[in-house]
Amino acid sequence: MKGHKTASVAFLSFAFLFLVCEGQQGFGKPCSDDYPQSKIYCYGDFLLTIQRAKLYPDQKTFVDHPLKANPADVLADFTALGISGEALNDTARQIISQFVDDHFDRNGTEFEDWVPTDWEENPTFLENINNTHLRQWASKLHEFWKELGRKIIEDVKTNKDRHSMYYVSHPVIVPGGRFKEFYYWDSYWIQRGLLVSNMTQTVKGMIENFFEMVDLLGFIPNGGRIYYQRSQPPLLLPMVDAYYEATNDIDFIKNNIETMKTEFEFFRTKRTVSVYLKDNPTPYVMARYNVELTDPRPESFSEDYELVNSLDQDDEVGKEFLYANLKSGAESGWDFSSRWFVVPEGTSLMDGNLTHTKTREIIPVDLNSFIYWNAVLLNKFCKVVDNVTACDPDIYQKYADDWKTAIHDVLWDEEAGTWFDFDFVRGEKRKYFFPTNLAPLWVNANHGLTADIAKQAVNYLYTSGATNFPGGIPTSMLQTGQQWDFPNGWAPLNHLVVEALENTGEPTAQNLAFDLAQKWIQSNHLAYLQTEAMFEKYDVSILGSAGSGGEYEVVVGFGWSNGVVLDFLKKYGLRLLPVDNLPTTTSPTTTPPTTTTAGSFSVHFNALNSLVTLSSLVFVLMGYLM
Ligand SMILES: *[C@@H]1O[C@H](CO)[C@@H](O)[C@H](O)[C@H]1NC(C)=O
Ligand SMILES: *[C@@H]1O[C@H](CO)[C@@H](O)[C@H](O)[C@H]1NC(C)=O
Ligand SMILES: *[C@@H]1O[C@H](CO)[C@@H](O)[C@H](O)[C@H]1NC(C)=O
Ligand SMILES: *[C@@H]1O[C@H](CO)[C@@H](O)[C@H](O)[C@H]1NC(C)=O
Ligand SMILES: *[C@@H]1O[C@H](CO)[C@@H](O)[C@H](O)[C@H]1NC(C)=O
Ligand SMILES: *[C@@H]1O[C@H](CO)[C@@H](O)[C@H](O)[C@H]1NC(C)=O
Repeated sequence: MKGHKTASVAFLSFAFLFLVCEGQQGFGKPCSDDYPQSKIYCYGDFLLTIQRAKLYPDQKTFVDHPLKANPADVLADFTALGISGEALNDTARQIISQFVDDHFDRNGTEFEDWVPTDWEENPTFLENINNTHLRQWASKLHEFWKELGRKIIEDVKTNKDRHSMYYVSHPVIVPGGRFKEFYYWDSYWIQRGLLVSNMTQTVKGMIENFFEMVDLLGFIPNGGRIYYQRSQPPLLLPMVDAYYEATNDIDFIKNNIETMKTEFEFFRTKRTVSVYLKDNPTPYVMARYNVELTDPRPESFSEDYELVNSLDQDDEVGKEFLYANLKSGAESGWDFSSRWFVVPEGTSLMDGNLTHTKTREIIPVDLNSFIYWNAVLLNKFCKVVDNVTACDPDIYQKYADDWKTAIHDVLWDEEAGTWFDFDFVRGEKRKYFFPTNLAPLWVNANHGLTADIAKQAVNYLYTSGATNFPGGIPTSMLQTGQQWDFPNGWAPLNHLVVEALENTGEPTAQNLAFDLAQKWIQSNHLAYLQTEAMFEKYDVSILGSAGSGGEYEVVVGFGWSNGVVLDFLKKYGLRLLPVDNLPTTTSPTTTPPTTTTAGSFSVHFNALNSLVTLSSLVFVLMGYLM
């Protein structure tokens, strides 16, 4: 007993030392000096002064403004004003506001609207949706692709110093709202929907954009802006695979194999760490989200800045680590969540807050499942390329095998019948419910008979309580006010669970998969009928309600939500039903709003192009109308 305790104390201090040393060596400034506009959009006194002046409600607004002149000239003009720092009076704020108007263009001017050339009226999948209401809705979602299409203007290429935007050659489908450029992991579910709509050329272009990013940066950024100095869950290869399965485009695989290998290597070399289990001297190589950069995220500057400065003033190391952990949390796609909170021993995660974010100390189930999946796909693609010099399938088979073993040995929990995230600093599993706990099942990274694991997964979902809600699976069981927590449900996570269960082929798992898809569809559909909008997240505890919480107002559009609905409707279209007693005042072929309601209805029509604050007012008004 005593020996054991000493061992774990030793283990802990070792892990801590490791974190500190490794962390400090790797820390650097965001945005490379290759970009002269870095001191405008990424870090430094100028950015601090502007963002601390809080000119706009959303800190992303300023960093999306294109420059009217060269960055060096703009910086010189600003220095000449003699205003800096954060203790600014109203006069100073007005001067800054005028300065921004004079030196920057409006946000949103880097794009032109673009209608996808492969979009067609009446795609065939609609024929296999039995229910009339759901079919009409699907048709509308298919039309939404046209609203979400964006093409970047040539000026971003020719005057690249004057934008925070990266130039990419092909048009994209964006998520919507404040997310008006491409996003990495969103694109996987957007593309799943586009493939249902048979828009393979659009998908191909979006993937080629990502190849351009890998060739330029060595990785794919979170989104299409230079200030996103971090990646997101690595789903490029799954995108390629979905496209390849739909088109059999062998040349696409052959021509891009090198770039795909580079994307894999980024995560394999830059996002891995040795994980030790007690009583086992041989470490496992596993992946974590890890952005070793300090400074606030430019697009959420003041939020990060204020949070970090709420820490003890002298705790310089703690501050640097918190910045890095926040950025790493953003890299996970789960920004933010109790999933990344590490609270003092003896306190509950519910008492945690963002200062407890320790993303870098956690080995996530989903990330490691994705790495496994990437290795499996590279093995498959190497065989397609059929040239061992260019791509050796055995290398990737080995990575896949190793990762599968690590997922089993480190993350699988036989007692609970599921996988859990692992805190490698404290050497313990984090036994909380998250839908991503089932990610290994989604990517076939499970050891043992799939049918057995499927039954355990079903049992786990029921006993966790996650199946108790009318609108689908929640993100966690903890209501912390963070957006990746209860009661929010997210399209990618509900899709992951449904597909994981469905793909097992086990009847009870498939029944549950259908039930969960049905709930998700009914809730999204009801919300759509009430608002004519699709949301980035939903509240699973109230049928037909958008989600809330987190750093910004709920966003409508919305790429991955549309994609997941289309995929469910394609998969289960013969059986799915909407809720009983559908609201009758609005329908997918709704009558135009009357003048008295135009204000509240503007949410429908502006929804796709602007960030919409879907205030409770709208719901109150809608309720009143019904
Ligand atoms: C407000 O700030 C400006 C610029 O820093 C300064 O010149 C001015 O004296 C300040 N005004 C007051 C009333 O403090
Ligand atoms: C541009 O900024 C304005 C002002 O903050 C904001 O209301 C609007 O949503 C932004 N537009 C886009 C397209 O981001
Ligand atoms: C999908 O689009 C292609 C053209 O890009 C067309 O040849 C094919 O028939 C379409 N498939 C379906 C199922 O509509
Ligand atoms: C976070 O929680 C700690 C207690 O663990 C508290 O001291 C601190 O004020 C909280 N910080 C914020 C920003 O809520
Ligand atoms: C195989 O790949 C290597 C390295 O990329 C290349 O030099 C060689 O020409 C390829 N062989 C064939 C037959 O395409
Ligand atoms: C779907 O509709 C068709 C034609 O109306 C009908 O024959 C079939 O039974 C329906 N399928 C289901 C599963 O309800």
